[in-house]
Amino acid sequence: MALDRNPDWWRDAAVYQIYPRSFADSNGDGIGDLAGVTSRVPYLAELGVDAVWLSPFYPSALADGGYDVDDYCDVDPRIGTLADFDQMVAALHERGIRVIVDIVPNHSGAGHKWFQEALASPPGSPERARYVFRDGLGPDRSQPPSDWTAAFGGPAWEPVGDGQFYFHLFDPAQPDWNWHNPEVRAEFVRVLRFWADKGVDGFRVDVADSLAKDFSADPLPSAAEVALIPAGPDHPYYDRDEVHDIYAEWRAVFNSYDPPRAAVGEVWAEDPARRIRYANKNGLGQAFNFGLLLADFDAAEFRQLIDRDLAQDRATGSSSTWVLSNHDKMRHASRYGLPAVAGESREIARNWLLARGREPVEDTALGLARARAASLAIMALPGSVYLYQGEELGLREVADLPDDVRQDPTFRRSGGYDVGRDGARVPLPWSTDGPSFGFGAGAAHLPQPEWFARHAVSAEQADPNSTLNLYRRALAARRELLGRPEVQAVEVFEWVASPAGTLHFKLGPWHCLINFTADSGLAPPDGRLVVASAGFGRDGLLAAPGAAWVVV
Ligand code: GLC
Ligand code: CA
Repeated sequence: MALDRNPDWWRDAAVYQIYPRSFADSNGDGIGDLAGVTSRVPYLAELGVDAVWLSPFYPSALADGGYDVDDYCDVDPRIGTLADFDQMVAALHERGIRVIVDIVPNHSGAGHKWFQEALASPPGSPERARYVFRDGLGPDRSQPPSDWTAAFGGPAWEPVGDGQFYFHLFDPAQPDWNWHNPEVRAEFVRVLRFWADKGVDGFRVDVADSLAKDFSADPLPSAAEVALIPAGPDHPYYDRDEVHDIYAEWRAVFNSYDPPRAAVGEVWAEDPARRIRYANKNGLGQAFNFGLLLADFDAAEFRQLIDRDLAQDRATGSSSTWVLSNHDKMRHASRYGLPAVAGESREIARNWLLARGREPVEDTALGLARARAASLAIMALPGSVYLYQGEELGLREVADLPDDVRQDPTFRRSGGYDVGRDGARVPLPWSTDGPSFGFGAGAAHLPQPEWFARHAVSAEQADPNSTLNLYRRALAARRELLGRPEVQAVEVFEWVASPAGTLHFKLGPWHCLINFTADSGLAPPDGRLVVASAGFGRDGLLAAPGAAWVVV
């Protein structure tokens, strides 16, 4: 199955996110690589995904798992070469799988040639003008320009020793680009073309809402003042309106290809009306909808988030992105199995409980049953679905990594308060034994727990009730159903009345039932049962937690 030229492929694609360092290691050095991805193309094809999105594989000091890019047009030698990249794309395309790469335009890595030039050049030089440098405060300019803190903790300004500081929204090893600078703009157009010319089908745009900055105020507002400014035109760096000028320019680049290149923005804007602006057809075209990534396994919450997003799609002509897990968040099988602590993310809640001497009890069976149900639910919703590597194996978070192997800067910079994201990035288990469960011929760069053996691809392949086989059946059925003319996604989406604690919706003849909590069970309509995440009782009712698709 070779690729068709359908320009709208991204609208309902099942996209599989690969975190390259942790997917498959072809040479046994413990680090996943592009040749490893190529070797697993048959697996991806059998899984039934339409596209893969690769998290960064570029040369990087790995201060932030590769999101600190030192060279945007090359491959990290530990991960492979540009020739490996071309081979991987060819192998994926051969099996009809499209390729999305991650573009990180808010900041570079500290090792980027231009940042090194900026450090070696004097204040006021054109080299410094590519980044966000500013004079320090106080008589000897030794104080930071403001008291702002970085997203990973600690100050957002780093001194360079000559009275100037540079701004970093994330780690100090991730200096922010100055998007007012035409050279920076031109450079990213070159980068986009470089990958598009290589046949890449789309781009995931990292931190898409923060590129445009206005730091012209003197003095800068305090952190306390900034905290009161809503994301939007008045905020110094979140979701400013001018960011859309950048994406309009990019869209022209994307549309100069046949088929046009797709793009999806990582946008955390809370106001859905502002988030959707990134999904404009004159902009990126699609923007992540993270509602369900943060939500509880709760019927009312799911329904409200689904309604909100579908209403926006109808109004704007965009297409939603449903996502339950990614490389930045606790895996949903754990999220749904842990107790909540009010006001805290579950990652932090776990630490909060531990700090008080209370071991958080993860109900792993409940978490997995809920995760399977939620995954079936999102695969039936109109729009595209983003799946994170390992969720098809029912993997949960690896919570007990020793402190000294943790790589995520969040852990260090928060003084351990936030354990960080490594628990979702542990290399995949492919077989039940071997030094790294088939990930590679040596130990993996993050240690895998013993229980990974039960989730190994080889074990799940052999078990008809495994999560892997559930995903395969669901993705195959989804592809077949989406091909039917009467399943016109968002236009025909409809809720069907169902008891409290359950949801039931349909797209033409395709019904999706989700029982979150109802003890009484949920009655399926008459029809053919296509796939179910859980069993039906002897009364014929779907038990909780569970989801099922029925075609009438
Ligand atoms: C995005 C990425 C995350 C990274 C951050 C800084 O949120 O998804 O992994 O740490 O940007 O680049
Ligand atoms: Ca390797």
